[in-house]
Amino acid sequence: MSQQTLTLRKVAGALGAELSGIDLSLPLSDALIAEIRSALVEHQVIFFRDQTLSPGQQVAFGRRFGPLNIHPYVAGMEGHPEVLEIIKEPSDKTNFGGGWHSDTSFLERPAIGSILYALELPEWGGDTLFASQAAAYDALSPGMQKTLEGLSAVHSAGREYSPAGHSAQKRASMKVVEAEGAVGEYIHPVVLSHPENGRKALYVNPAFTLRFDGWSKRESQPLLNFLFDHCRQEARTCRFNWAPGSVAFWDNRSVWHYALNDYPGQRRHMRRVTVDPA
Ligand code: SIN
Repeated sequence: MSQQTLTLRKVAGALGAELSGIDLSLPLSDALIAEIRSALVEHQVIFFRDQTLSPGQQVAFGRRFGPLNIHPYVAGMEGHPEVLEIIKEPSDKTNFGGGWHSDTSFLERPAIGSILYALELPEWGGDTLFASQAAAYDALSPGMQKTLEGLSAVHSAGREYSPAGHSAQKRASMKVVEAEGAVGEYIHPVVLSHPENGRKALYVNPAFTLRFDGWSKRESQPLLNFLFDHCRQEARTCRFNWAPGSVAFWDNRSVWHYALNDYPGQRRHMRRVTVDPA
């Protein structure tokens, strides 16, 4: 078990902290994992630099936080089905995750977090944006907070992963699986109380939220549009500039993220593991 000491530096006002003094490829003590988990919950997204992780080491690190998800609609890495290879080839026009979203909110039990490791980056561009949904909730009026706390919303993978719209089909190096099944709808509360610190956060997103439960799409859209606009306000975001070996670990219960697609003609290669609730 390695003895390591974490140092933490906040990167923005609403969310984000960079942690140093740790090698994620080593077997880490329970105390260190607890420290990382508490930094994640408090800062909502945490970053590490200069890591070297094999797929097995990334899986081992991810498993310290919970069972790992096998993505239902995008094929995992051969030999490591829990590892999603997120690759944009120079010839690809669209990127994976190129819009504000929470990972797997379209599942009955959405992910609690994702751990993304960078292998190859474009010469410029390819940053990822994060937006605090806890800060977005805090910034609403008490009246709106109360209204939203009584609501649930319907989420589905259909727009992103149905055979007609499957985003991975548009990329040379990412394979589609089971896209036929991407039609299920699941209902989640619009305001989530974080199970670990009780902080409230908004839980709707433009990629996967279709409507409020019990409301029509037409009735839902104006309030959803207001929320989607509110939830991505710049003052409640942070931006991560990757280098090979960088790792970002976000708390999917309180954060949206957005992979920028601003590097045409260049390659970007990342690996993600996604932590499910226990
Ligand atoms: C994702 O949505 O998980 C992809 C994020 C990224 O590639 O920056």
